[in-house]
Amino acid sequence: MSGLETIFSIEHAAIRFGRGALAETGQEARALDLRRVLLVTDPQVRRLPAFATVQAALAEAGVEAVVFDRVAVEPTDTAMLDAARAAAEAAVDGFVSLGGGSAMDTAKAANLLSTYPAPITDYVSAPAGRAVPVPGPLKPHIACPTTFGTGAETTGILIVDLTEEEVKTGVVSRRIRPTLGILDPGTLETLPGSVIAANGFDVLSHAIESFTARPFHERPAPATASARPLSQGANPYSAFAALEAVQLVAANLETAVRHRDPAALEQLAFAGLLAGVGFGNAGCHLPHAMSYPVAALVRDWRPEGWVTDGPMVPHGIAVAVNAPSALRWAGRAQPGRFAPVAAALGARETADPGDAVADALLGLMTRTGLPVNLARMGFTSADIPTLAEGAARQRRLTDNAPLPPAISDFEAMYREALIQG
Ligand SMILES: [Fe+2]
Repeated sequence: MSGLETIFSIEHAAIRFGRGALAETGQEARALDLRRVLLVTDPQVRRLPAFATVQAALAEAGVEAVVFDRVAVEPTDTAMLDAARAAAEAAVDGFVSLGGGSAMDTAKAANLLSTYPAPITDYVSAPAGRAVPVPGPLKPHIACPTTFGTGAETTGILIVDLTEEEVKTGVVSRRIRPTLGILDPGTLETLPGSVIAANGFDVLSHAIESFTARPFHERPAPATASARPLSQGANPYSAFAALEAVQLVAANLETAVRHRDPAALEQLAFAGLLAGVGFGNAGCHLPHAMSYPVAALVRDWRPEGWVTDGPMVPHGIAVAVNAPSALRWAGRAQPGRFAPVAAALGARETADPGDAVADALLGLMTRTGLPVNLARMGFTSADIPTLAEGAARQRRLTDNAPLPPAISDFEAMYREALIQG
């Protein structure tokens, strides 16, 4: 270790973007020399026209598709192991995932665990897991999102719910990044407005968090090139992608939610890709760290417009509800980093750019029909200590914040998120 970091790195998946792109999935699979793939999806997506399109495209190109359609909404380690077993049994030479972040992450895990079998906790980030490096290259994976915003098609991150430990955590490795992402905005036109709103906020938060993360050049230099982390902090390339994403979401989200306008949806899909490039190479921080305990602790609230088995807070809503107070707090530490974000959001000019960002987000949440505080989802002040402890445990994310918060800071942010709006 010698001094501070001077180098940043940029990596993302190859991308095909545009209407009709899904119909080329078979040709792309052939171009990667694939003959037999595990087609990873969930039961709802299996009924959509997009599934038929991909299946036909693969068949037409002479690529055999073994369907695995048991992807769970917020996948657990057990569900991921299930997919890995299916991949091993079918002896596939690659993966095609079709669906939301859960389908793409399940395919990443199935690829990892069938290629280098080990308990997933070996690969999970510390402290929940052992953070063992992925031993070598994985098989090709073509990721086809049917929603937008997760960025899972271009990131080397997968999120998993550890059943025994009851914790949501992640595997981070450039080896698990999909080989190719195929984004066809035509798939978004059937999404309910509430889903568009939540995903739009996930995009917005990915972009704002990667723009404001502790910059790469303020970190210790890694001992070796390969030890340089993916979550390396803000850097010029991520920043440029992130700011464009903020502008695109601010300009298109309301129209997309109200009218499911195809042109606005296409812009949101592109913003989701840009924000994925941003946070995939910079990393998220506080709103995401605070979202996981909210998703884990929810008691009986169910979101409107979502297919759910029980009470749940969708990822985008869990992120959105914590973003205003978290960014207000972080904005006090680094006001200079928040001024360009406030401008990209078209926020009113104030002395405190963090406040301007927070207030602009609250306004957009109200106009797009999202719940604006934790009380609306059934949380009370008695939940705050547990929430704060849960957020502080997300070290991968809290280390990336402009300033690392103490437990009392997390409590203050959650207290504000409880009643804001
Ligand atoms: Fe997210």
